[in-house]
Amino acid sequence: MVSAQQTKFVLDESDLPTQWYNIQADLRTPLAPVMHPGTGQPIGPDDLAPLFPMALIMQEVSQERWIDIPDEVRDVLRLWRPSPLYRARRLERALDTPARIYYKYEGVSPSGSHKPNTAVAQAYYNKRAGVTRLSTETGAGQWGSSLAMACSFFDLECKVYMVKISYQQKPYRRVMMETWGAQVTPSPSSETEAGRQVLSQDSDSPGSLGIAISEAVEDAATRDDTKYSLGSVLNHVLLHQTVIGLETKRQLELAEDEADIVIGCAGGGSNFAGLAFPFAADKLRGERPNLRIIAAEPAACPTLTKGAYAYDFGDTVGLTPLIKMYTLGHNFIPAPLHAGGLRYHGMAPLVCNLYHDDIIEAVALPQLATFEAALQFGRTEGIIPAPETAHAVRVAIDEALRCKAEGVSRTIVFNLSGHGHFDLSAYENYLAGNLQDYDYPLEKVEEALAQLPQVNA
Ligand SMILES: Cc1ncc(COP(=O)(O)O)c(C=O)c1O
Repeated sequence: MVSAQQTKFVLDESDLPTQWYNIQADLRTPLAPVMHPGTGQPIGPDDLAPLFPMALIMQEVSQERWIDIPDEVRDVLRLWRPSPLYRARRLERALDTPARIYYKYEGVSPSGSHKPNTAVAQAYYNKRAGVTRLSTETGAGQWGSSLAMACSFFDLECKVYMVKISYQQKPYRRVMMETWGAQVTPSPSSETEAGRQVLSQDSDSPGSLGIAISEAVEDAATRDDTKYSLGSVLNHVLLHQTVIGLETKRQLELAEDEADIVIGCAGGGSNFAGLAFPFAADKLRGERPNLRIIAAEPAACPTLTKGAYAYDFGDTVGLTPLIKMYTLGHNFIPAPLHAGGLRYHGMAPLVCNLYHDDIIEAVALPQLATFEAALQFGRTEGIIPAPETAHAVRVAIDEALRCKAEGVSRTIVFNLSGHGHFDLSAYENYLAGNLQDYDYPLEKVEEALAQLPQVNA
């Protein structure tokens, strides 16, 4: 029997999941093949070998429902996992809502977000394959700092291309990465052909995740000792994040409750997928037809709600294979939002697949409304969310208020993907009234969509 005050639902270390859940085994529509931009043909594992170790490539295409988590990875995850599930009783009281609100707190990881769940796994598989150096990109710095930490655990060199606007807005994330031993370069940089190409067109470019990906991919592709590591979007990344949802389901059992609405913010889709996919499995099996699963994205970068479902490059310059996803066009450079991790033109193909098949929903939110929700959350629950996470908080509050208006009680579960301790300049700007909303940039999106690559698939 759960007491009326219980606030935290915690699992024992021995409850740390032993397997990841692979949603590819349960999709209604199989994923569209990834295409080679040169040949226009589907790519095979060997095409990806210059960038990733074979173990991760095999996870990328695996149709097995369950994949074992290596003991070496679980040993590291145990430093902070299982993460707590909180019942947001104080927020519920402040909203005067009949809804029950829960949040899974991924900010307890050493780098402060969900990102190490995959960083540790990726560093492990690269180390096992004899790789000595990893290159990557980072937006807000959450991913770069997580990979820097994971590389320090497995004794790998780490090179991070950090989106320039975040590099300037979040200097302490850079210091964090350097403290864990990584080398950090603001992107676009003059160190790569891709960076030089962007700078020649716009020397003041604030950068974007798409540009930073181009630089990191080029870095890995042109060096024998280096492979590339991506913090979101790819199937294996989302797979590694499913520990979040698997734990949450067990914690809800402890709470003697069941989710009616599951929410995550979506940049490339990894924290959303990590929480949502184990729940989506029930819906795909027909067991929970009324379960709502909502992805929260910025109105200034509304990939799912306003993008085209089409083949596109994963990066800006066009170095990656072509993937079918909702996209705003690889040339689209989003406004300099403080939710840097949500400034991505595309979205994970697995998340897009579920959206296209109506298994999940999406909403787009203006920046100011997300900070308003983050403040209300911080002032009731204490935790100051990352600006990315604030999008999920906004939707959770809106759904709780809807419960109040309709006079019904529903169970709302959201992913508190990270804390905002390194994003306080954004909060400072918000409190000073210096933040703004950005309109949906219709013209720029149309321009970028007009340049989508042509694929006959
Ligand atoms: C705290 C936090 N949440 C969410 C995201 C968005 O990424 P994803 O959609 O892959 O979870 C980021 C990305 O940097 C992040 O740092």
